[in-house]
Amino acid sequence: MADKIPVGVLGATGLVGQRFVSILADHPWFSLEVVAASEKRVGKRYGESVKWYIDEPLPQQAIDMVMARPRPESFKPVDVVFVALPKEVAGPLELELARMGKIVVSNANVFRMDPDIPLLNPEVNWDHMSLVKLQRERRGWRGAILKVPNCTTAILTLSLKPLMDSYGIREVYMTSMQAISGAGFNGVPGYAITDNIIPFISGEEEKVVRESRKILGKLSGDAVSFADMRVVATTTRAPVLDGHLESVVVRLEKMPGDIEEVRSLLDSWRSRPQHLRLPTAPEKPIIVRREEDRPQPRLDRKSGRGMSVVVGRLSQPYPDEPVIRYIVLGHNTLRGAAGTGVLIAELYYRMFEEGAVG
Ligand SMILES: NC(=O)c1ccc[n+]([C@@H]2O[C@H](COP(=O)([O-])OP(=O)(O)OC[C@H]3O[C@@H](n4cnc5c(N)ncnc54)[C@H](OP(=O)(O)O)[C@@H]3O)[C@@H](O)[C@H]2O)c1
Repeated sequence: MADKIPVGVLGATGLVGQRFVSILADHPWFSLEVVAASEKRVGKRYGESVKWYIDEPLPQQAIDMVMARPRPESFKPVDVVFVALPKEVAGPLELELARMGKIVVSNANVFRMDPDIPLLNPEVNWDHMSLVKLQRERRGWRGAILKVPNCTTAILTLSLKPLMDSYGIREVYMTSMQAISGAGFNGVPGYAITDNIIPFISGEEEKVVRESRKILGKLSGDAVSFADMRVVATTTRAPVLDGHLESVVVRLEKMPGDIEEVRSLLDSWRSRPQHLRLPTAPEKPIIVRREEDRPQPRLDRKSGRGMSVVVGRLSQPYPDEPVIRYIVLGHNTLRGAAGTGVLIAELYYRMFEEGAVG
């Protein structure tokens, strides 16, 4: 791109916001121009407003940025707004920004299931981006709202997509062990999670069930027909900083040749973001490991700069039934949030240039 596209981050001090700032600080297409968080930060420098906790250095160019008011007017100078706000405050701001003509890429759990709002995991359902045309017609705005899926769902659906395309999927049983960063900066008290596993995450199982059926659904005409598969999700919180681990059992429609065939299918799978060479797309969306004790959060969460999911322990528990099981690990604030957000914006601009959205 000749000139960089100006972008901003709303919720820039949170755990997802910090990832956005880190990725955008030296992005080849985007230039970070506006950062905002809650009212109490307005007018302060980003460097003194943020408690920088992530495992990347605080970018030099972000330190002296002055925190803007968390209002739509603050984002007038930018084309894209990445939203990392709690869902309670995100909705009205997103609508106003889209009316102002902004491309809103949001992590907040509002509007995700609206029929004209694409819920995008770019390798899985890049084609759903064309819902933007319908959204603009229906809502009469020039902007767009593009949604990042729930983190657990983003990791799960990436591992399911090649299986869906090659064999069809009848049922999915998924049990997660999710990192504490998934609940945000003040989400899980240290005393509650240390030396513990909490077997419940409010609203999470419902999100996995409904969002995975939309993401893996087929776009026909102007509508997504949801994937016709059963999903049973059990979600738990584990004392891990970053990286959601998911134990998955899938009943396929068709019998795979053998487990080696499934391994090489997943490991060699590439999709549109890889073919388009989008800057945030990992070279390999799915990395298959053969060691019996991988993937592990601490060792594998930064695979593909946190944008690949890592699959291990692949097996066929009943060789004469079309059932496979595996463990999948993904970075919840990268593949599950900010990394996928930036990838969605990259995909939007590429598809826009090609005339696929307009
Ligand atoms: N963490 C994950 O793995 C993950 C994954 C997928 C999706 N998400 C979603 O992404 C969003 C952000 O999550 P997070 O984990 O980054 O949360 P977080 O660490 O709690 O950060 C929240 C951010 O929102 C700002 N904020 C809070 N109330 C505000 C208000 N009334 N007006 C303006 N700004 C306000 C905070 O600013 P101050 O610092 O000034 O308070 C902070 O920048 C949430 O909707 C979450 O559900 C998170």
